[in-house]
Amino acid sequence: MPIKMPLARLRLPTRWTHAALAGVTALLLALPSAAVAQGDPDHTACSPDGKLCFALAIDGGIATYRVDREGAPVIVPSKLGFQLHGGGKWQNGMELGEATRASHDETWEQPWGENRLVRDRYNEMRVPIVEQGRAQRVIDLVVRVFDGGVGFSYEFPDQPQLADVRIDEELTEFNLAPGGDAGPDAWWIPGGEWNRYEYLYHHTPANQVGMAHSPITFRRQDGLHISIHEAALADYSAFWLQRIDGLRFRTFLAPSSQGSKVHRAAPFTTPWRTITIATDAPGLYAASDILLNLNEPNRLGDVRWAKPQKYVGIWWAMHLDKWSWNDGPKHGATTQHTLDYIDFAAAHGFDSVLVEGWNKGWWSESGRNFQFAEAYPDFDMDRVTAYAKKRGVEIMGHHETAGNAGLYERQLDEALDYYERHGIHSVKTGYVADAGGILREDPDGTEQWEYHDGQFMARHHVLVAEAAARRHIAVDAHEPIKDTGLRRTYPNMMTREGARGFEYMAWGEPPNPPSHEPTLLFTRMLSGPFDLTPGIVSLEGRDGRPIPNTLARQLADYVVIYSPLQMAADLPENYLKRPDALAFIKQVPVDWEQTRVLKGRIGEYAVVARQRRGGADWWVGGVTDGQARTVSLDLPFLPVGRSYIAEIWRDGPGGGIDGDRFAMVRETRRINGGDSLPVEMMAGGGFALSLRPAN
Ligand code: NOJ
Ligand code: CA
Repeated sequence: MPIKMPLARLRLPTRWTHAALAGVTALLLALPSAAVAQGDPDHTACSPDGKLCFALAIDGGIATYRVDREGAPVIVPSKLGFQLHGGGKWQNGMELGEATRASHDETWEQPWGENRLVRDRYNEMRVPIVEQGRAQRVIDLVVRVFDGGVGFSYEFPDQPQLADVRIDEELTEFNLAPGGDAGPDAWWIPGGEWNRYEYLYHHTPANQVGMAHSPITFRRQDGLHISIHEAALADYSAFWLQRIDGLRFRTFLAPSSQGSKVHRAAPFTTPWRTITIATDAPGLYAASDILLNLNEPNRLGDVRWAKPQKYVGIWWAMHLDKWSWNDGPKHGATTQHTLDYIDFAAAHGFDSVLVEGWNKGWWSESGRNFQFAEAYPDFDMDRVTAYAKKRGVEIMGHHETAGNAGLYERQLDEALDYYERHGIHSVKTGYVADAGGILREDPDGTEQWEYHDGQFMARHHVLVAEAAARRHIAVDAHEPIKDTGLRRTYPNMMTREGARGFEYMAWGEPPNPPSHEPTLLFTRMLSGPFDLTPGIVSLEGRDGRPIPNTLARQLADYVVIYSPLQMAADLPENYLKRPDALAFIKQVPVDWEQTRVLKGRIGEYAVVARQRRGGADWWVGGVTDGQARTVSLDLPFLPVGRSYIAEIWRDGPGGGIDGDRFAMVRETRRINGGDSLPVEMMAGGGFALSLRPAN
């Protein structure tokens, strides 16, 4: 229930910034009766535009927060707290100290990304939450309220009574306001299940969610879209979201072999808990830049060596079971195969060639035999890297660990030195193991098992990024920890998997349905880039099984699903059979000046426009689920009166997944800024187009 407060008692604290004051004043003028529902103004912070407010209060001795948008509840009072090992609960008998405030407005430049410039504008409030009684433990809550959402984190100060912090559980709640009689819908994948993140999304009423990973997306009946996630997860355990009852969710930290899920020495700060809020799905995508903003600036300096690029690789043939990762008669990563791939890449302008299965140790139980700097006898690393260099192509390294992150850490320096010596500037890592199947060793050799998203792995990914950065190597992690925007701080953490990619088109049961990408865009993609590995122009998986996509859809994915490392995943011979598709894949950029999601509904369809970084050309991609639909493309970003040449790849007549999946029209049209262009997508289809200024 809203905390009602008479207007007369509304007393503005002394330390309010001008921006916050302006926001609150605007809110008071616009919505006098709603504004009084915000709670104690001494502990309320509002967004720069005044629409979103975060209010902290004490209710029965427990610190709670609420979030309102234009005076209506988004998050109703939700508890904060911790279960501390040996220290009981830090939750009851609390009082709030005095708030200190700041506001911030800065535009920063990304070295690469979906948008070159990012505006970081928020009002901040910091409130000490003080335990009364014997222990007197203080934790500061730091809150940042952006126009697009809220982030808050707990700061554990240096204090003798809480210096060595062992967290058994974090007790942060997210208690959703229903926003309509029926309550919100939710799109989510299960947390704590055997497979890390590679699930098809469930679409259920929010009150039927079980244990879910974040980001999780909710859509209320009144149209409000909400995504709950976290930012800057670097030395802490990831949270899963556990539904307690009704629409009340609570953090459940990924387990640790050490009993306590998090072990830190104070002072330290938890990752940010984030609530992104928008009135429609495209708005939710745009607002998710709060995740980047909540991460620390670049710590690596000049990262021009971390280059957005398109790559091909010795990969799909293994997923088709034509080649093998391990050596033997079907070995994929032979010197000759690699030289052939280098020739293909050089002939068609691909930047690099991924080689999987070149090193010794495939496939051993829990990765115990992997040698990260030793090649199989039929693979000559010196020769292939020298040849690649001659042809102007790079090799992308590969470190599959089968979840043995401990072994990888022990060999890390040697493994990365080896790549550095061979002029390799990117590495795909992999952690194929069931959840809870990450292996590491204590200093005395005792084996310990961890989760892909526990504190050990959060630290591991930073350790790998830092070690790779010292050698100017970028990382593409498969079976990773979820993305929380750390690429801002470590721009060599370029992309990752952490969702169901195209390998499932080869052998997954079922393969990814056409609703997958329109779902991903508004769920997983809110967190960051995804190495989807698209471009299967043969539309054929293992044993010739059909892929439920059209050819044009395969192209659309290059624009819709962002990754600065983007694979052309099919076999070279298949590209040569589909020259129109290959022409698109060769041209489409991988680094962007700006991005606009033009249209979309979760799980149904999406249309995304992106401008090439440093260029005047725009690229648009559209995807639909199993339903055919025609979208009317308004192109508000094109200046009126200016003429453009549109090159279009779209589903052709008789196309769609129940028709001829290969039916594709490639055509050129002239259009003018301000025009609207209708484009038809067949079932399971899509389109892609480029727009170049006509001189
Ligand atoms: C799973 C990864 O997602 C896939 O891309 C890779 O080929 C295999 N592991 C082997 O490392
Ligand atoms: Ca995978």
